[in-house]
Amino acid sequence: MAIDIIEKRRPRVGLSKVGTSDTHGEESPYFAGWKAYDENPFDEVHNPSGVIQMGLAENQVSFDLLEEYLEKHREVASFGSGISSFKENALFQDYHGLFSFRKAMANFMEQVRGGRARFDPHRLVITAGATAANELLTFILADPADALLVPAPYYPGFDRDLRWRTGVKIIPIHCDNSNNFQVTPQALEEAYKEAESKNIKVRGVLITNPSNPLGATIQRCVLEDILEFVTRKNIHLVSDEIYSGSAFCCSEFISIAEIVESRNYRDSERVHIVYSLSKDLGLPGFRVGTIYSYNDKVVTTARRMSSFTLISSQTQQLLASMLSDGKFTVNYIKTNRERLRRRYEMMIHGLRSAGIECLKGNAGLFCWMNLSSLLEKATKEGELAVWNTILREVKLNISPGSSCHCSEPGWFRVCFANMSETTLQIALKRIHDFMQTKALTHHHDFP
Ligand SMILES: Cc1ncc(COP(=O)(O)O)c(C=O)c1O
Repeated sequence: MAIDIIEKRRPRVGLSKVGTSDTHGEESPYFAGWKAYDENPFDEVHNPSGVIQMGLAENQVSFDLLEEYLEKHREVASFGSGISSFKENALFQDYHGLFSFRKAMANFMEQVRGGRARFDPHRLVITAGATAANELLTFILADPADALLVPAPYYPGFDRDLRWRTGVKIIPIHCDNSNNFQVTPQALEEAYKEAESKNIKVRGVLITNPSNPLGATIQRCVLEDILEFVTRKNIHLVSDEIYSGSAFCCSEFISIAEIVESRNYRDSERVHIVYSLSKDLGLPGFRVGTIYSYNDKVVTTARRMSSFTLISSQTQQLLASMLSDGKFTVNYIKTNRERLRRRYEMMIHGLRSAGIECLKGNAGLFCWMNLSSLLEKATKEGELAVWNTILREVKLNISPGSSCHCSEPGWFRVCFANMSETTLQIALKRIHDFMQTKALTHHHDFP
């Protein structure tokens, strides 16, 4: 109310181009669905007919393991040895970050990859989440009006993270169901040609492995094709590996770091990895991310630029202790993978018995669901009509593929790790009932 009055009284004073630009992409249904959930959130006891949030890639399945660790190691959460360490923490301001934290983080990243890749803590730059890491890298690799090629469907937040403040463009590399949405050399070439035809300079390719929204890892041969492509075009490759620890089976996830090592670091100066603890450890509120680059200049520049988006020293200290505890990390990584797989299977079976198929997944906190048979028209509008019915009538917030720039209408991302198993069963029951009413009306329309 107060803000309304102030806004009316004030003369219209201009803002910068960034301030008024809509390249943040927050008007998309991806975010509108969150709003509908916020207005009427489901609660098993207090609001059982509310909207169930299935549009949030959040991992709560292993939270108890973190709580158990902190319960057993209370000193970690309460400034170690007390007041002297409080002062040390409060005054710490080195933008390199605590070495103990970077070391523990590098170690954790190695463990997640089954020890098949090594990470030097000196090459690790800390950032406030992968959001900041992706933006920071974009600032360093591309100039305003240049482009990054990104396999689509992609995480809707990239529109904001890669484009908004940097002025950089995203050109989608279109992938479709004909080959399980994997990137092909032709699709890479086509996206590059599209940029050329618009006179846009391509500075790199940014992949997400395992993929959000597909919930699947990228095959080794595809990674090799992509690396061959960026080398031939002399551009960068950023690999966002935020879901690496959420691959259900460690050996099915191949990090770009493994490929780089197997090539003896040849051409590695164009390769950069983004990671964060938001998904694998389920700590999005802690804002812990990293950039790992094989390029010395990028490491130095990213480190300087990371002053804008550092991680609180208190958080660094807590995580340095937690991630250096080998017994904890080994058990956490293993249990978390098993629990995510169990959730995924619950989801797939539930959907299948409702008559819905998903892309075969092996990673992440979501599945990629095919509802194309429900579309009245095979268009983005047709897809959004189904999305709207599911949000308003079935009271499930899922993400339409079009918000991920998917070129094939009818696909939806459905998250399964941000709720209890009971809530998931309720969501599956709602979908099941919805599909039955659809089958009945369909039957009625076409006897
Ligand atoms: C592929 C991808 N990159 C980056 C992010 C942002 O993560 P963070 O919380 O670490 O900023 C997300 C979050 O959903 C994501 O899915």
